[in-house]
Amino acid sequence: MKKSLFISFILIYIALFIRVSKSDCTSYKCIQAGDQCGNGETCPGGHFCNTWFDIPVCVALLPAGETCTRDQECQRGLSCIIDSADRYCSNSEYKGYGEKCVDPMDCSRSLDCINGTCYRDQTDCVSTSCPAGKFCNSATKMCNVLLKTGKDCDFDYQCEYGSICAITPNSANKTCVAMYSKLEGQPCINGENTCDIGQSLGCVDGFCKKYNPDTAGTKACSSNSTCPGEAETCICNKFGGIDGKCQQTNVVGPECKTATLAYFDCIKDSGCPLIVDNPDSPSSCQSKECGKQKCNYEDLCFISDYQCNPVRLGYCPEKSTSSSLSIAFLLHTLLISFLLFI
Ligand SMILES: *[C@@H]1O[C@H](CO)[C@@H](O)[C@H](O)[C@H]1NC(C)=O
Ligand SMILES: *[C@@H]1O[C@H](CO)[C@@H](O)[C@H](O)[C@H]1NC(C)=O
Ligand SMILES: *[C@@H]1O[C@H](CO)[C@@H](O)[C@H](O)[C@H]1NC(C)=O
Repeated sequence: MKKSLFISFILIYIALFIRVSKSDCTSYKCIQAGDQCGNGETCPGGHFCNTWFDIPVCVALLPAGETCTRDQECQRGLSCIIDSADRYCSNSEYKGYGEKCVDPMDCSRSLDCINGTCYRDQTDCVSTSCPAGKFCNSATKMCNVLLKTGKDCDFDYQCEYGSICAITPNSANKTCVAMYSKLEGQPCINGENTCDIGQSLGCVDGFCKKYNPDTAGTKACSSNSTCPGEAETCICNKFGGIDGKCQQTNVVGPECKTATLAYFDCIKDSGCPLIVDNPDSPSSCQSKECGKQKCNYEDLCFISDYQCNPVRLGYCPEKSTSSSLSIAFLLHTLLISFLLFI
């Protein structure tokens, strides 16, 4: 009797220990098209984990018109719409409040198309229903003007495009701070994106410090918060494991800084709503006005080793980073024209 009680205690203790020591490292494993998925592995770019069958596998993202169950199954720039009883991928739901529409499907889900304009009662807002330059105040359900840098805030989405709700020196409250504007030695929170990456600063132990990429992959971690923010992620040593190493996943340097700020500046000046259901649609205001900046931002700020071959936005121009690549492309084009000709 006593013995079984003792064993139960041990078991409860072990259960608690496992719970407490559960790690937040990011399991990362790229798999191929056709591979079994569903345990957190990442399908290659342009594919999703199709769970419609008993054994889920990576299959190609669905083009417009194909039956879907959620947005993530559709090609980038499409959303999974409900049209009476049908659900299918469609170039829809990319407009925000106040934009001209023909069909309610043009507008984000929270909006109707009334008198040719995407509309929702502005005293009952949700995140996708406020016009450009405003955010939805979840307490009052009213759209408020985005807060300028220096204003007190609680969340990033309340701050002007290109600024972050961040801790600030000499203030108990968080305030809106321009992205990548904090100097060496200023306090920061890991992953906040406020330290000046243009000066190669990252958030380390609560302060913006010079980031040393040579140390990437050497520091043991159990969560992102122990890794230099802005640049590194705690990647598990083995898939599903609990111990990890801090690996550089984001670019630090002036190229990424310039590209990011150019993208947000463009959105700010464009008068486009930032939060719509399908911003990647080539027809969205932000794609039309700031597509070039968005392509640049995506090309220059992420380290593709940790992205499992991402697919670029359909409207982005061919990358011209390597001359050998463009020569290969030219030869390829010549060959195809030749084959078509004969
Ligand atoms: C750690 O950071 C990565 C990359 O930004 C993110 O995908 C992941 O969700 C983060 N993990 C936790 C536990 O916050
Ligand atoms: C739509 O137009 C009608 C007629 O002009 C007007 O009465 C109604 O208030 C308009 N609705 C909205 C939401 O603007
Ligand atoms: C912090 O915010 C509270 C509530 O909004 C306000 O009363 C207080 O004055 C603020 N403190 C500082 C130092 O700005």
